[in-house]
Amino acid sequence: MEALIQQAAKEIACARNVIALTGAGISVESGIPPFRGKGGLWEKIDPMEVAHIDAFMEDPARVWRLLIQDMGHLLASAQPNDAHQGLVALEKQGRLTSIITQNVDGLHQAAGSSRVVEFHGSFATVSCLKCHTKQPIKNCLTGELPPLCDCGGVLRPDCVFFGEMIPMNAFHAAQAAVATCDVMLVVGTSATVQPAAQMPVMAKQNGAVIIEVNLDSTPLSHSISDYMIKGPAGNSMRQLATAANEMRSDGS
Ligand code: OAD
Repeated sequence: MEALIQQAAKEIACARNVIALTGAGISVESGIPPFRGKGGLWEKIDPMEVAHIDAFMEDPARVWRLLIQDMGHLLASAQPNDAHQGLVALEKQGRLTSIITQNVDGLHQAAGSSRVVEFHGSFATVSCLKCHTKQPIKNCLTGELPPLCDCGGVLRPDCVFFGEMIPMNAFHAAQAAVATCDVMLVVGTSATVQPAAQMPVMAKQNGAVIIEVNLDSTPLSHSISDYMIKGPAGNSMRQLATAANEMRSDGS
């Protein structure tokens, strides 16, 4: 493992432009469960019944009760972990230029990363379905459901539900980052949800080196990833950032 970390750190140290794609696994050590696999949220609830836009439009109070309120409380108290900090360290070293995250928890920004593309939106705010006014989600975590705007419209979280498009600005920013990177870190994602899962494939086609960090293998591990660093993201990212910091940009 030590040799693998050193080799991957060398790729980072020699790169011109490193970016990261992150998923729920990077926030597991912050106490937020993933969606898939053991202990995953979708083991307990059916995403098509609670996380699809049609389910929300049909019965917003039910989706607020079964999913959004608990998630809102959980995210409100979560803190960034070593994996988020590892990406901040790589940015400070002048190596990492941006993060594309599928997470809606805001933990990259809380850790101090400055260029974060929120591919699946954010849970920090809600918007009114009628007048589109935004407000912090913390205003909606207690009280009657569904929460209503002053205008009487139903409030929804600013995340992407299943059945919805990726926000255009996030999609374009992600594509631009992918097109120009020469190393992509892929941290804590099962790489099963499109179009995010396509990003490492596109980066690879453009000649980028793919460094995957995950507890388990994914569909990328044996075909797309050049490096598969198996283990908890916190430990792996701390080691990678430390090793890259000790190297000069020629990898020596
Ligand atoms: P998943 O829950 O599908 O996958 C989490 C990944 O993290 C898995 O591959 C785990 O092996 C890995 N993992 C778990 N704990 C880890 C740890 N401590 N360190 C490293 N890896 C760990 O999450 P995503 O890939 O992010 O979309 O899921 C993508 C999308 O599916 C989410 O954004 C969400 C969901 O439905 C929407 O809500 C639109």
